Amino acid sequence: MANKFIRLIKSRVSCREYSDKRVPTKKVLAVAEAGKYAPSGRNRQIANIYVVKSKPNVEKLRNLSFELLDRDCMHGVQAIILVAGPAEDDFTDKDCSCILENMFLAAHSLGLGSCWINQFDSLLRSKNGLKVKKTLGIPDNFKVVGGCALGYVKDNVSLEVKERKADFIKIL
Ligand SMILES: Cc1cc2nc3c(=O)[nH]c(=O)nc-3n(C[C@H](O)[C@H](O)[C@H](O)COP(=O)(O)O)c2cc1C
Repeated sequence: MANKFIRLIKSRVSCREYSDKRVPTKKVLAVAEAGKYAPSGRNRQIANIYVVKSKPNVEKLRNLSFELLDRDCMHGVQAIILVAGPAEDDFTDKDCSCILENMFLAAHSLGLGSCWINQFDSLLRSKNGLKVKKTLGIPDNFKVVGGCALGYVKDNVSLEVKERKADFIKIL
């Protein structure tokens, strides 16, 4: 059985090649808003969503990546949404992951490419990273579970849905 939404879920693919075309702010905010409506453990809503879209702030993150990883882990995007929560809370990873998935699907529904970027937790713990974390207003006791890179898929790049393993679902 399938409907429009299930087909959308099944056609989402991580994108790592983006065009230079800027994503309108209203689309970036619509993606963040979709994240806000994710479920949260015991409805505590402990996570925060940080929409990083100003050029200087995006470049701060990119520079950190070049400095520490010698590459742009953000795949050249011009907007990234970080999702973070209290590092010591058992629900943080789970809540943030729900938010991120909502955002990937919302991005896809709006014709945008997206990708989970995993490196921010370690990048923002480095000496310079801690300064950037402060600039972005992320509390010291928060960890960034993931980033949602956002942008238009580069022209002529075709993204293929990856095959899923045959025995993914067990029916008992
Ligand atoms: C927890 C997690 C961490 C990930 N980290 C990265 C990452 O740092 N960089 C990246 O390009 N993709 C990252 N991805 C994307 C995966 O590589 C991708 O989801 C996987 O290859 C399956 O491809 P698909 O998303 O197109 O189905 C991550 C995905 C998850 C769920």
